[in-house]
Amino acid sequence: MMNENPVALAWPEKGNEVPKAVFQREDIYRLELERIFHGAEWHPVAHVCELAQPGDYKTMDVGEVPVLIVRGQDGEVRVFVNACPHRGTQLKTEARGRAKMIECPYHRWTFNPQGKLMGAPGLQDFPASFQKDDYGLRQVRSAIVHGLVFATLSDETPDIDTYLGVSAGTIGRVFGGEGELCLLGYQKVKFNTNWKEYSDNEGYHAPLLHGAFRLLQWQGGKGEILATDRAHKVTSAQLNHAPDNGYLNDYSLIEKFDKNQPPESIVVTLFPVTIVIRHLDTISVRYAIPRSPHQTEVHYAYFARADDSEALQRHRVRQASNLLGPSGLITLEDGAVFNRLHAGSRSPGEVEFQRGVTDDYHYPRQLQQNDEAGNLVRWEHYRQTMGFERG
Ligand code: FES
Ligand SMILES: [Fe+2]
Repeated sequence: MMNENPVALAWPEKGNEVPKAVFQREDIYRLELERIFHGAEWHPVAHVCELAQPGDYKTMDVGEVPVLIVRGQDGEVRVFVNACPHRGTQLKTEARGRAKMIECPYHRWTFNPQGKLMGAPGLQDFPASFQKDDYGLRQVRSAIVHGLVFATLSDETPDIDTYLGVSAGTIGRVFGGEGELCLLGYQKVKFNTNWKEYSDNEGYHAPLLHGAFRLLQWQGGKGEILATDRAHKVTSAQLNHAPDNGYLNDYSLIEKFDKNQPPESIVVTLFPVTIVIRHLDTISVRYAIPRSPHQTEVHYAYFARADDSEALQRHRVRQASNLLGPSGLITLEDGAVFNRLHAGSRSPGEVEFQRGVTDDYHYPRQLQQNDEAGNLVRWEHYRQTMGFERG
């Protein structure tokens, strides 16, 4: 069980209410880093196709801890703490790269892509007890599911299959099989909002906030939401065909080219903050990094299937950023609303969830696609992990 809570916060009695203080307070944010981001949760940090060749690396952060994901010469993808075992210098700062050796700039210790210390200048003057084998890069616990690389900083995190539950199969559906993908590119953005306001995005607002759905007469087909045991949220919906009503100069932007996949939208919102999504021909992982209570950085990574034709790949590039990127015509308004949510949560009181709530103390697990109550299982997991008592 949780130790005595160092942060005092009274949680409302009603299951559909969340105190606004959790979006603003610095002490709560510090506790979230400790218990959630550095705690017993798995965090997606890369897809293996982002590291296609031996020596390829990528930098990410798990909470505040910099990590380095590297494909070794043996083909294996490992996650390391991105800090030199000597004096702690951050080893790599660029988003991605390829290197035969990882060299620390401070005193030029070098490591191979498997993380082994290969050389250290002045070694003859180190204590006799110094063993190179003791100074490899510190490896972080990791697991790969459908090509998605997860990392956790805690030994207490359950195994990945237990953790993901049914969402693992849905991630496979998003990627369209065994995760044979290739990277198309990234878009990176910082939203001036709390990470929970970002990840609270739901199906209720979709046809209401987003003008594109109305302008394109894009009616949602049948869809449902499932909240898993471990507070992940799986939303899937069929996508009806939007008519070419002249609003777009180039209607092909919203066409479905990949005939191997049905026209659908699948969104896996993993606790705490990563979103894995396929919508029409867009395949994307949105890695998110909380930077403060007031800022969330999101890396939109876009993928193609490895066996796509060149034309289909080009279509995916265009559709991905123009439709579902941070300024895409479907999601453009989300960024503005995130900012406004955060400005509004400086006021006292609670936020409330209504649509899909069946009674005040019950957290529905199966819902309709336009419900917002699918987030309550996440909030209950959050409350328990943070050790906030009701009342
Ligand atoms: S801190 Fe890296 S070599 Fe000294
Ligand atoms: Fe949205």
